[in-house]
This record gives sequence, structure tokens and C-alpha cells, in this order.
Amino acid sequence: MQPNLTEEERNCLAGYLAGWADTVDALRMRQYIQHGSVTTYEHCMRVAAISFWLNRRLNLGCDEASLVRGAFLHDFYLYDWHLPHREMGLHGFTHPATALANAEARYALNDRERNVIRSHMWPLTLLTPPRCREAAVVCVADKLSSTTETLWERRRPMVPAAQTAGRH
Ligand SMILES: [Fe+2]
Ligand SMILES: [Fe+2]
Repeated sequence: MQPNLTEEERNCLAGYLAGWADTVDALRMRQYIQHGSVTTYEHCMRVAAISFWLNRRLNLGCDEASLVRGAFLHDFYLYDWHLPHREMGLHGFTHPATALANAEARYALNDRERNVIRSHMWPLTLLTPPRCREAAVVCVADKLSSTTETLWERRRPMVPAAQTAGRH
């Protein structure tokens, strides 16, 4: 799923992410596969674009900068979840906290951006629900993006289903 943004909207999106999506650590997300053949970096950019598109088309009234930046950092966990990481626990449950800790260490986040990252796996992470409209939008956008990437963008060998359950 790629949202149909105008040139002005694409420029606006890029403006919000200048200094955020072009850092050395942000670019590390290009090394990791998220779903199918899609890298974590591509996935995060796509979730940011879908969130931006939903907010504009449905007039949801989100703070656009927080929406886009939180969406971009929502999977900033910086490891390959296909490999065993026992110290991390179950990826589906733990990676929002890992992504938030990584983002806090590198960016000056506001409360909306923190909640976007921390709550994006809800309802799997039952105790950390979205508490602002930006987080609710990213929660939906992530599921839309993850579903289409998993179903229609598999050009590499499939990861066994048991390893992918609940992982966004
Ligand atoms: Fe995720
Ligand atoms: Fe995600």
C-alpha cells in the first residue's frame, strides 16, 4: 500500500523528517527486513506516509509533525528480529519499548511521539493503548502497511509463520 500524495504533500512529509530519517542510526534500519522483502526503513517511511495521508484525507486534526516523526520511529528497535535475541524477549511484545528507548537516546521527543511509538502494537500490548489521536492513526496505519507487506511483497523466502505472529 502506497498512499497517493501530491507533490506538495511529499515535500511536506520530507520536511518533517529532515534531520530525523537521514541520521546514521535511522539509516541502519535499511539493513533489516521487516516483512516480506520490505526493509524496516521502507516500512517506517510507508507508515509515516499512510498516517500523513489518513490525517489529511479524513481531516483527523493530528499534529502532523508528531504524527509523521512518531510513525517513522515506531519500529526503531535496530536489530534483525528474524534472528534469536533472547535478551529482548518476545519481539512482538517488547520492541515498542526498545524502539522508544532507542529514539529517546537520539532525538528530543514530545509526549505524542512517545505514545505513538510505545502503543503502536496495541491491542497486543494491552497495557499501552494509544492515548492521543496521532498514536491511534499510526496504530491503524501500521496494521494496514504490515498486512499488505506480508501478503503481497514476498519476494524473499518466507519466514515460518510461527516466527512472524504478532510482529509489526
Ligand atoms: Fe512494530
Ligand atoms: Fe511497524
